[in-house]
Amino acid sequence: MSSLFEPTTLAGLALQNRIAMAPLTRNRADVMGVPKPFVRDYYAQRARVGLIISEGTQTSFAGQGYCRTPGIHTSEQVAAWKRVTDAVHARGAKMFMQFMHCGRIAHPLNRQIPDAPVAPSAVRPAGQMWTDQQQLQDFPTPRALETAELPALIDEFVAAAHNAIAAGFDGVELHAANGYLLNQFLASNTNLRTDGYGTSLHGRIRFVVEVVKAVAAAIGPARTAIRVSPGHMFNDLVDANPLETHRVLLDDLPTADMAYVHVMLPDAFSPQLNNAGDAQTVLPTLRPHVKGALIAAGNLTAASAATMLDSGLIQLAVFGRPIIANPDLVERLKSGAALAAPRDDLLYTADAEGYSDYPALRS
Ligand SMILES: Cc1cc2nc3c(=O)[nH]c(=O)nc-3n(C[C@H](O)[C@H](O)[C@H](O)COP(=O)(O)O)c2cc1C
Repeated sequence: MSSLFEPTTLAGLALQNRIAMAPLTRNRADVMGVPKPFVRDYYAQRARVGLIISEGTQTSFAGQGYCRTPGIHTSEQVAAWKRVTDAVHARGAKMFMQFMHCGRIAHPLNRQIPDAPVAPSAVRPAGQMWTDQQQLQDFPTPRALETAELPALIDEFVAAAHNAIAAGFDGVELHAANGYLLNQFLASNTNLRTDGYGTSLHGRIRFVVEVVKAVAAAIGPARTAIRVSPGHMFNDLVDANPLETHRVLLDDLPTADMAYVHVMLPDAFSPQLNNAGDAQTVLPTLRPHVKGALIAAGNLTAASAATMLDSGLIQLAVFGRPIIANPDLVERLKSGAALAAPRDDLLYTADAEGYSDYPALRS
């Protein structure tokens, strides 16, 4: 039997197999960021994997960018998430929550507060974003964060981490990938700061290191993880040298004690590589800089995942798009059954259709 299906231990947590569900934004919360009741069904249906990583979840109303994304900063949100983690644990999976502060990838119409979106620097992203009220809209120019605001922003992540643990999560994954706030600090085209949190490579990684260390100090490094996407040019983010940036970042993080480092491979769905070389070189390049568990997502198959697990390159194989329409993904990978295709028009809609209604092969 493939090593994919063998139990394992991650950060002291017993996992029923080495398959993880990727963080997938699906926009099924109400306007106050409370996950709707059927969110519990959706995650529970997929809880035969070893580890579920939640969709990107905001740590404050100010961190919200998209419409109908959930939060973890009000008591109603915590209560709703507790029902999710209870259902997931009952079916055997462990669950981390992904913290997503969108930074400049935000539109005021999608938020509950009047403030402008914030970012490391006032650099407007090219492109547009969906709003329920006025459909596609240009991104506005974000407001550059004041140096004096950064400690309070770190405190938001810490408070959210306490909330996530109270909601029953086994840990939190800090989203430093895909062009959102933490990634905006890392990258050379979005971080033009001159206050010690930018300019040099050590300046650009500083805020991310401070957030990771603060969260790890609050809930424990073994409950703290990070997601990165070196070379993935998404949300108009371009770093001049992403592999160097991430090598130095990882060297400054307490990766030996952290739950895991999660790499989203750069060719996953936006194939442009920027000085990152071939996507196949990203994991071998970063592996020596990760002293603990390394997990990865991006176009994995049962065969490619098993090869990477068996060589010790990664410790868990993370699947995103395949688990959307295949709630019984573990079963299907095991039996070699065909995978259903998701309905792309229902990825980000508000209701249960195209979300918690995909059938398993055997119910
Ligand atoms: C609908 C959708 C939503 C996503 N939302 C998130 C997210 O909230 N956070 C994140 O880090 N990545 C997100 N991703 C990226 C996935 O986690 C994953 O890395 C990517 O789909 C590549 O893996 P795959 O080839 O197995 O799909 C999303 C991808 C899709 C298709």
